Amino acid sequence: MSTATTNQSVIDRAKKVLLGNYKQQPVAIDRGQGVYVWDVEGRRYLDMICGVATNALGHCHPELVAVAKAQLDKCWHTANGVYNEPQVALAEKLLSLSGLDRAFFCNSGGEANEALIKLARRYQKERGEPERVEFVCFENSFHGRTLATLTATGQPKYQKGFDPLPAGFRHVPYGDVGAVKQAVGRRTAAILVEPVQGEGGVHPAPEGFLRELRRICDDEGALLLIDEIQTGMGRTGKFFGFQWEDIRPDAISMAKALGNGIPVGAMLCREEVGKVMGPGSHGSTFGGNLVACAVATRVVEILSTPSMLETVRENGAYLLAQAQKMKARLGDKVVSVRGKGLLFGCELAQEAGPVLNRCRELGLIVNLAGERTLRMAPAFIATRDQLDEALSIMEQAIRG
Ligand SMILES: Cc1ncc(COP(=O)(O)O)c(C=O)c1O
Repeated sequence: MSTATTNQSVIDRAKKVLLGNYKQQPVAIDRGQGVYVWDVEGRRYLDMICGVATNALGHCHPELVAVAKAQLDKCWHTANGVYNEPQVALAEKLLSLSGLDRAFFCNSGGEANEALIKLARRYQKERGEPERVEFVCFENSFHGRTLATLTATGQPKYQKGFDPLPAGFRHVPYGDVGAVKQAVGRRTAAILVEPVQGEGGVHPAPEGFLRELRRICDDEGALLLIDEIQTGMGRTGKFFGFQWEDIRPDAISMAKALGNGIPVGAMLCREEVGKVMGPGSHGSTFGGNLVACAVATRVVEILSTPSMLETVRENGAYLLAQAQKMKARLGDKVVSVRGKGLLFGCELAQEAGPVLNRCRELGLIVNLAGERTLRMAPAFIATRDQLDEALSIMEQAIRG
Protein backbone atom coordinates (compact mmCIF):
# COMPACT_ATOMS: atom_id res chain seq x y z
CA MET A 1 0.00 0.00 0.00
CA SER A 2 1.48 3.37 -0.98
CA THR A 3 1.56 6.05 1.71
CA ALA A 4 0.05 9.46 0.94
CA THR A 5 2.39 12.32 0.11
CA THR A 6 2.37 14.88 2.93
CA ASN A 7 4.32 18.06 3.52
CA GLN A 8 6.38 16.19 6.10
CA SER A 9 7.11 13.25 3.79
CA VAL A 10 8.45 15.62 1.11
CA ILE A 11 10.48 17.55 3.69
CA ASP A 12 11.95 14.33 5.12
CA ARG A 13 13.06 13.24 1.64
CA ALA A 14 14.35 16.72 0.77
CA LYS A 15 16.47 16.88 3.91
CA LYS A 16 18.27 13.70 2.82
CA VAL A 17 19.08 14.79 -0.72
CA LEU A 18 19.04 18.57 -1.20
CA LEU A 19 22.06 20.69 -0.47
CA GLY A 20 20.46 22.58 2.39
CA ASN A 21 21.44 26.02 1.09
CA TYR A 22 17.94 27.51 1.43
CA LYS A 23 16.04 28.55 4.53
CA GLN A 24 12.73 26.87 3.67
CA GLN A 25 9.21 27.11 5.02
CA PRO A 26 7.87 23.68 6.00
CA VAL A 27 5.40 23.34 3.16
CA ALA A 28 5.59 21.52 -0.20
CA ILE A 29 3.70 23.26 -3.00
CA ASP A 30 1.87 21.04 -5.42
CA ARG A 31 -0.03 23.36 -7.76
CA GLY A 32 -0.88 26.99 -8.37
CA GLN A 33 -3.60 29.00 -10.05
CA GLY A 34 -3.75 32.79 -10.19
CA VAL A 35 -2.68 34.20 -6.81
CA TYR A 36 -3.18 30.91 -4.97
CA VAL A 37 -0.99 27.86 -4.40
CA TRP A 38 -1.96 24.53 -2.84
CA ASP A 39 0.31 22.27 -0.82
CA VAL A 40 0.52 18.52 -1.33
CA GLU A 41 -2.11 18.04 1.39
CA GLY A 42 -4.58 20.24 -0.49
CA ARG A 43 -4.31 23.34 1.73
CA ARG A 44 -4.69 26.65 -0.13
CA TYR A 45 -2.44 29.71 0.44
CA LEU A 46 -2.65 33.27 -0.79
CA ASP A 47 0.71 33.64 -2.53
CA MET A 48 1.90 37.21 -2.14
CA ILE A 49 5.54 36.62 -3.03
CA CYS A 50 4.91 34.84 -6.35
CA GLY A 51 8.22 33.05 -6.81
CA VAL A 52 9.98 36.20 -5.48
CA ALA A 53 8.58 38.80 -7.87
CA THR A 54 8.48 36.27 -10.68
CA ASN A 55 4.90 35.18 -11.45
CA ALA A 56 3.63 38.69 -12.16
CA LEU A 57 0.67 37.23 -14.04
CA GLY A 58 0.01 34.66 -11.34
CA HIS A 59 0.35 30.91 -11.56
CA CYS A 60 -0.57 28.97 -14.70
CA HIS A 61 -1.95 31.96 -16.61
CA PRO A 62 -4.08 30.22 -19.29
CA GLU A 63 -2.72 32.25 -22.22
CA LEU A 64 0.87 31.57 -21.20
CA VAL A 65 0.16 27.88 -20.70
CA ALA A 66 -1.22 27.80 -24.26
CA VAL A 67 1.84 29.61 -25.68
CA ALA A 68 4.21 27.25 -23.86
CA LYS A 69 2.32 24.15 -25.00
CA ALA A 70 2.24 25.31 -28.62
CA GLN A 71 6.00 25.95 -28.57
CA LEU A 72 6.67 22.61 -26.84
CA ASP A 73 4.90 20.88 -29.72
CA LYS A 74 7.02 22.76 -32.26
CA CYS A 75 10.63 23.01 -31.07
CA TRP A 76 12.12 23.26 -27.56
CA HIS A 77 15.69 24.28 -28.06
CA THR A 78 18.39 24.88 -30.60
CA ALA A 79 21.92 26.04 -29.96
CA ASN A 80 22.86 29.63 -30.70
CA GLY A 81 24.78 28.47 -33.75
CA VAL A 82 21.53 29.06 -35.64
CA TYR A 83 18.85 31.74 -35.39
CA ASN A 84 15.39 31.33 -33.90
CA GLU A 85 12.43 33.65 -34.37
CA PRO A 86 11.05 33.67 -30.78
CA GLN A 87 14.41 35.04 -29.56
CA VAL A 88 14.36 37.79 -32.17
CA ALA A 89 10.74 38.68 -31.38
CA LEU A 90 11.51 38.97 -27.67
CA ALA A 91 14.55 41.14 -28.35
CA GLU A 92 12.52 43.45 -30.62
CA LYS A 93 9.84 43.87 -27.98
CA LEU A 94 12.26 44.52 -25.09
CA LEU A 95 14.36 46.97 -27.08
CA SER A 96 11.34 48.98 -28.15
CA LEU A 97 10.26 49.23 -24.51
CA SER A 98 13.69 50.06 -23.09
CA GLY A 99 15.06 52.42 -25.76
CA LEU A 100 18.18 50.23 -25.96
CA ASP A 101 19.65 48.61 -29.07
CA ARG A 102 20.99 45.09 -28.47
CA ALA A 103 19.86 42.07 -26.45
CA PHE A 104 21.61 39.02 -25.02
CA PHE A 105 19.58 36.21 -23.45
CA CYS A 106 20.51 33.92 -20.58
CA ASN A 107 18.68 31.98 -17.89
CA SER A 108 18.81 33.89 -14.62
CA GLY A 109 19.45 37.23 -12.97
CA GLY A 110 22.94 36.34 -11.83
CA GLU A 111 23.90 35.46 -15.38
CA ALA A 112 22.38 38.68 -16.71
CA ASN A 113 24.49 40.68 -14.26
CA GLU A 114 27.61 38.71 -15.18
CA ALA A 115 26.95 39.80 -18.76
CA LEU A 116 26.73 43.44 -17.61
CA ILE A 117 30.01 43.18 -15.75
CA LYS A 118 31.86 41.53 -18.63
CA LEU A 119 30.38 44.03 -21.10
CA ALA A 120 31.57 47.04 -19.09
CA ARG A 121 35.13 45.80 -18.66
CA ARG A 122 35.48 44.85 -22.30
CA TYR A 123 33.95 48.12 -23.49
CA GLN A 124 36.39 50.20 -21.49
CA LYS A 125 39.34 48.17 -22.80
CA GLU A 126 38.23 48.34 -26.41
CA ARG A 127 37.81 52.09 -26.27
CA GLY A 128 41.36 52.45 -25.02
CA GLU A 129 40.82 52.90 -21.28
CA PRO A 130 42.14 49.58 -19.95
CA GLU A 131 42.66 50.99 -16.44
CA ARG A 132 38.88 51.31 -16.04
CA VAL A 133 38.18 47.98 -14.39
CA GLU A 134 36.33 48.94 -11.21
CA PHE A 135 32.64 48.87 -10.37
CA VAL A 136 31.02 51.27 -7.96
CA CYS A 137 28.17 49.38 -6.30
CA PHE A 138 26.01 50.05 -3.26
CA GLU A 139 25.89 48.95 0.34
CA ASN A 140 22.91 46.70 1.00
CA SER A 141 22.53 45.86 -2.70
CA PHE A 142 21.89 42.40 -4.15
CA HIS A 143 23.08 41.31 -7.57
CA GLY A 144 23.29 37.51 -7.48
CA ARG A 145 25.25 34.49 -6.29
CA THR A 146 27.97 33.96 -8.89
CA LEU A 147 31.43 34.98 -7.71
CA ALA A 148 31.39 38.34 -9.51
CA THR A 149 27.78 39.18 -8.70
CA LEU A 150 28.08 38.29 -5.02
CA THR A 151 31.15 40.50 -4.90
CA ALA A 152 29.08 43.32 -6.44
CA THR A 153 26.46 42.61 -3.77
CA GLY A 154 26.85 45.02 -0.86
CA GLN A 155 25.98 42.56 1.91
CA PRO A 156 28.98 40.75 3.43
CA LYS A 157 26.84 37.82 4.64
CA TYR A 158 26.54 36.58 1.04
CA GLN A 159 30.32 36.66 0.58
CA LYS A 160 31.28 34.79 3.75
CA GLY A 161 33.55 31.84 3.08
CA PHE A 162 33.91 32.42 -0.65
CA ASP A 163 37.11 34.45 -0.74
CA PRO A 164 39.29 35.24 -2.56
CA LEU A 165 36.66 37.35 -4.29
CA PRO A 166 37.24 38.96 -7.70
CA ALA A 167 38.97 42.35 -7.44
CA GLY A 168 37.54 45.67 -8.50
CA PHE A 169 34.25 46.15 -6.63
CA ARG A 170 33.63 48.92 -4.12
CA HIS A 171 30.53 49.92 -2.22
CA VAL A 172 29.13 53.26 -1.16
CA PRO A 173 25.90 54.14 0.70
CA TYR A 174 22.75 53.89 -1.46
CA GLY A 175 21.32 57.30 -2.28
CA ASP A 176 24.48 59.18 -1.30
CA VAL A 177 25.45 61.24 -4.36
CA GLY A 178 28.48 62.76 -2.61
CA ALA A 179 29.90 59.32 -1.79
CA VAL A 180 29.39 58.21 -5.41
CA LYS A 181 31.20 61.29 -6.70
CA GLN A 182 34.13 60.53 -4.43
CA ALA A 183 34.26 56.86 -5.44
CA VAL A 184 34.00 57.30 -9.21
CA GLY A 185 37.24 58.16 -11.00
CA ARG A 186 39.76 57.19 -13.64
CA ARG A 187 39.61 53.52 -12.70
CA THR A 188 35.81 53.23 -12.79
CA ALA A 189 34.35 51.04 -15.52
CA ALA A 190 30.74 51.43 -14.40
CA ILE A 191 28.24 52.13 -11.67
CA LEU A 192 25.88 49.22 -10.97
CA VAL A 193 22.60 50.07 -9.23
CA GLU A 194 19.09 48.77 -8.46
CA PRO A 195 16.20 51.26 -8.81
CA VAL A 196 14.75 49.73 -5.62
CA GLN A 197 16.91 47.60 -3.34
CA GLY A 198 14.67 44.55 -3.18
CA GLU A 199 16.56 41.82 -1.30
CA GLY A 200 18.15 44.53 0.83
CA GLY A 201 14.78 45.29 2.46
CA VAL A 202 12.69 47.08 -0.21
CA HIS A 203 14.32 50.51 -0.26
CA PRO A 204 13.36 52.68 -3.26
CA ALA A 205 16.12 55.00 -4.53
CA PRO A 206 15.59 58.63 -3.51
CA GLU A 207 13.98 60.69 -6.26
CA GLY A 208 16.57 62.04 -8.67
CA PHE A 209 19.27 59.57 -7.60
CA LEU A 210 19.44 57.65 -10.89
CA ARG A 211 19.51 60.95 -12.78
CA GLU A 212 22.49 62.05 -10.68
CA LEU A 213 24.23 58.74 -11.37
CA ARG A 214 23.68 59.26 -15.11
CA ARG A 215 25.26 62.72 -14.85
CA ILE A 216 28.26 61.41 -12.90
CA CYS A 217 28.82 58.60 -15.42
CA ASP A 218 28.64 61.06 -18.32
CA ASP A 219 31.11 63.43 -16.64
CA GLU A 220 33.55 60.69 -15.65
CA GLY A 221 33.45 58.31 -18.64
CA ALA A 222 31.88 55.43 -16.71
CA LEU A 223 28.94 53.30 -17.81
CA LEU A 224 25.61 53.30 -15.98
CA LEU A 225 24.41 49.72 -15.49
CA ILE A 226 20.97 49.19 -14.01
CA ASP A 227 19.91 45.95 -12.37
CA GLU A 228 16.22 45.64 -13.31
CA ILE A 229 15.99 42.00 -12.29
CA GLN A 230 13.47 42.64 -9.52
CA THR A 231 12.18 46.06 -10.61
CA GLY A 232 11.71 45.41 -14.34
CA MET A 233 8.63 44.06 -16.13
CA GLY A 234 6.32 46.62 -14.56
CA ARG A 235 6.91 45.73 -10.92
CA THR A 236 7.26 49.38 -9.81
CA GLY A 237 4.48 50.70 -12.07
CA LYS A 238 6.68 51.65 -15.03
CA PHE A 239 7.88 48.89 -17.31
CA PHE A 240 11.45 49.51 -16.11
CA GLY A 241 12.35 51.05 -12.77
CA PHE A 242 14.74 53.51 -14.44
CA GLN A 243 11.82 54.97 -16.37
CA TRP A 244 10.71 56.87 -13.26
CA GLU A 245 13.65 59.16 -14.09
CA ASP A 246 14.22 60.61 -17.50
CA ILE A 247 17.43 58.70 -18.25
CA ARG A 248 18.88 56.23 -20.71
CA PRO A 249 21.16 53.65 -19.08
CA ASP A 250 24.07 52.14 -21.00
CA ALA A 251 22.94 48.62 -20.19
CA ILE A 252 20.42 46.82 -18.00
CA SER A 253 19.84 43.31 -16.69
CA MET A 254 16.53 41.57 -16.24
CA ALA A 255 15.16 38.13 -15.29
CA LYS A 256 12.54 37.14 -12.66
CA ALA A 257 9.14 38.14 -14.15
CA LEU A 258 10.42 38.02 -17.73
CA GLY A 259 9.26 34.42 -18.14
CA ASN A 260 6.55 34.55 -15.44
CA GLY A 261 8.31 31.55 -13.88
CA ILE A 262 10.03 30.02 -16.92
CA PRO A 263 13.78 30.64 -16.41
CA VAL A 264 14.96 33.44 -18.69
CA GLY A 265 17.22 36.44 -18.21
CA ALA A 266 18.36 39.23 -20.48
CA MET A 267 21.01 41.90 -20.82
CA LEU A 268 20.08 44.90 -22.98
CA CYS A 269 22.56 47.58 -24.02
CA ARG A 270 23.33 50.54 -26.22
CA GLU A 271 24.69 49.91 -29.72
CA GLU A 272 28.08 51.48 -29.09
CA VAL A 273 28.62 49.47 -25.92
CA GLY A 274 27.27 46.18 -27.28
CA LYS A 275 29.45 46.14 -30.35
CA VAL A 276 32.48 45.10 -28.29
CA MET A 277 30.87 41.70 -27.71
CA GLY A 278 31.66 40.07 -31.01
CA PRO A 279 31.41 36.35 -31.85
CA GLY A 280 32.87 34.17 -29.11
CA SER A 281 33.01 36.92 -26.46
CA HIS A 282 30.13 35.56 -24.40
CA GLY A 283 27.40 32.94 -24.55
CA SER A 284 24.99 30.58 -22.87
CA THR A 285 23.84 27.18 -24.13
CA PHE A 286 20.24 27.68 -23.04
CA GLY A 287 20.17 31.45 -23.56
CA GLY A 288 17.41 32.36 -25.99
CA ASN A 289 15.71 28.98 -25.64
CA LEU A 290 12.60 28.87 -27.84
CA VAL A 291 10.09 27.92 -25.15
CA ALA A 292 11.39 30.57 -22.74
CA CYS A 293 11.41 33.27 -25.42
CA ALA A 294 7.96 32.41 -26.78
CA VAL A 295 6.47 32.61 -23.28
CA ALA A 296 8.46 35.74 -22.38
CA THR A 297 7.30 37.58 -25.50
CA ARG A 298 3.67 37.09 -24.52
CA VAL A 299 4.47 37.99 -20.88
CA VAL A 300 6.10 41.24 -22.01
CA GLU A 301 3.18 42.09 -24.28
CA ILE A 302 0.69 41.67 -21.44
CA LEU A 303 2.78 43.34 -18.71
CA SER A 304 3.65 46.37 -20.82
CA THR A 305 0.09 47.46 -21.60
CA PRO A 306 -0.69 50.93 -20.19
CA SER A 307 -3.68 49.56 -18.29
CA MET A 308 -1.56 46.88 -16.61
CA LEU A 309 1.06 49.42 -15.53
CA GLU A 310 -1.67 51.73 -14.25
CA THR A 311 -3.11 48.85 -12.21
CA VAL A 312 0.31 48.27 -10.64
CA ARG A 313 0.67 51.96 -9.76
CA GLU A 314 -2.87 52.27 -8.38
CA ASN A 315 -2.96 48.98 -6.49
CA GLY A 316 0.57 49.61 -5.23
CA ALA A 317 -0.50 53.01 -3.86
CA TYR A 318 -3.59 51.38 -2.34
CA LEU A 319 -1.51 48.63 -0.69
CA LEU A 320 0.90 51.17 0.79
CA ALA A 321 -1.92 53.41 2.06
CA GLN A 322 -3.65 50.45 3.72
CA ALA A 323 -0.33 49.32 5.16
CA GLN A 324 0.24 52.75 6.66
CA LYS A 325 -3.10 52.43 8.46
CA MET A 326 -2.02 48.98 9.66
CA LYS A 327 1.24 50.45 10.94
CA ALA A 328 -0.68 53.11 12.87
CA ARG A 329 -2.81 50.39 14.51
CA LEU A 330 0.23 48.28 15.41
CA GLY A 331 2.21 51.10 17.04
CA ASP A 332 5.88 50.42 17.65
CA LYS A 333 5.74 46.79 16.44
CA VAL A 334 6.21 48.15 12.89
CA VAL A 335 9.19 50.40 12.14
CA SER A 336 8.26 51.28 8.57
CA VAL A 337 6.17 50.24 5.57
CA ARG A 338 7.57 51.13 2.16
CA GLY A 339 7.61 50.18 -1.46
CA LYS A 340 7.11 51.17 -5.04
CA GLY A 341 4.34 49.77 -7.21
CA LEU A 342 3.69 46.20 -6.15
CA LEU A 343 6.99 45.69 -4.37
CA PHE A 344 6.29 46.11 -0.68
CA GLY A 345 8.23 45.79 2.56
CA CYS A 346 7.07 45.90 6.16
CA GLU A 347 9.96 46.35 8.59
CA LEU A 348 9.30 45.08 12.08
CA ALA A 349 10.91 46.13 15.34
CA GLN A 350 12.05 42.54 15.81
CA GLU A 351 13.08 39.50 13.79
CA ALA A 352 10.45 38.75 11.17
CA GLY A 353 10.97 34.96 10.92
CA PRO A 354 8.33 34.00 13.54
CA VAL A 355 5.81 36.39 11.91
CA LEU A 356 6.52 34.84 8.51
CA ASN A 357 5.67 31.44 10.00
CA ARG A 358 2.45 32.71 11.55
CA CYS A 359 1.45 34.22 8.18
CA ARG A 360 1.86 30.82 6.54
CA GLU A 361 -0.10 29.08 9.30
CA LEU A 362 -2.87 31.61 8.61
CA GLY A 363 -2.75 30.88 4.86
CA LEU A 364 -0.50 33.63 3.51
CA ILE A 365 2.89 33.15 1.83
CA VAL A 366 5.32 36.09 1.93
CA ASN A 367 9.10 36.12 2.37
CA LEU A 368 11.87 37.99 4.15
CA ALA A 369 14.07 40.74 2.75
CA GLY A 370 16.68 41.00 5.48
CA GLU A 371 16.12 39.81 9.04
CA ARG A 372 13.32 42.18 9.98
CA THR A 373 11.43 42.95 6.79
CA LEU A 374 8.46 41.00 5.47
CA ARG A 375 8.25 41.37 1.69
CA MET A 376 5.30 41.08 -0.64
CA ALA A 377 5.58 41.08 -4.44
CA PRO A 378 2.03 40.17 -5.44
CA ALA A 379 0.94 39.17 -8.91
CA PHE A 380 -0.38 42.20 -10.79
CA ILE A 381 -3.69 40.36 -11.16
CA ALA A 382 -4.23 40.39 -7.37
CA THR A 383 -7.49 42.18 -6.56
CA ARG A 384 -7.83 44.82 -3.84
CA ASP A 385 -9.80 42.30 -1.78
CA GLN A 386 -6.87 39.91 -2.01
CA LEU A 387 -4.40 42.67 -1.05
CA ASP A 388 -6.67 43.54 1.91
CA GLU A 389 -6.80 39.91 2.92
CA ALA A 390 -2.99 39.68 2.81
CA LEU A 391 -2.60 42.74 5.03
CA SER A 392 -5.25 41.54 7.42
CA ILE A 393 -3.42 38.19 7.85
CA MET A 394 -0.11 40.02 8.20
CA GLU A 395 -1.57 42.26 10.91
CA GLN A 396 -2.92 39.26 12.80
CA ALA A 397 0.48 37.54 12.50
CA ILE A 398 2.35 40.61 13.73
CA ARG A 399 0.04 40.86 16.76
CA GLY A 400 1.13 37.29 17.55
C1 LIG B 1 18.15 42.86 -7.99
C2 LIG B 1 18.54 41.42 -8.19
N1 LIG B 1 19.62 41.14 -8.93
C3 LIG B 1 20.00 39.86 -9.14
C4 LIG B 1 19.31 38.81 -8.61
C5 LIG B 1 19.76 37.40 -8.87
O1 LIG B 1 18.88 36.75 -9.70
P1 LIG B 1 18.90 35.15 -9.85
O2 LIG B 1 18.51 34.59 -8.53
O3 LIG B 1 17.88 34.86 -10.92
O4 LIG B 1 20.28 34.76 -10.27
C6 LIG B 1 18.18 39.05 -7.81
C7 LIG B 1 17.45 37.94 -7.19
O5 LIG B 1 16.78 38.09 -6.19
C8 LIG B 1 17.78 40.41 -7.61
O6 LIG B 1 16.72 40.70 -6.86
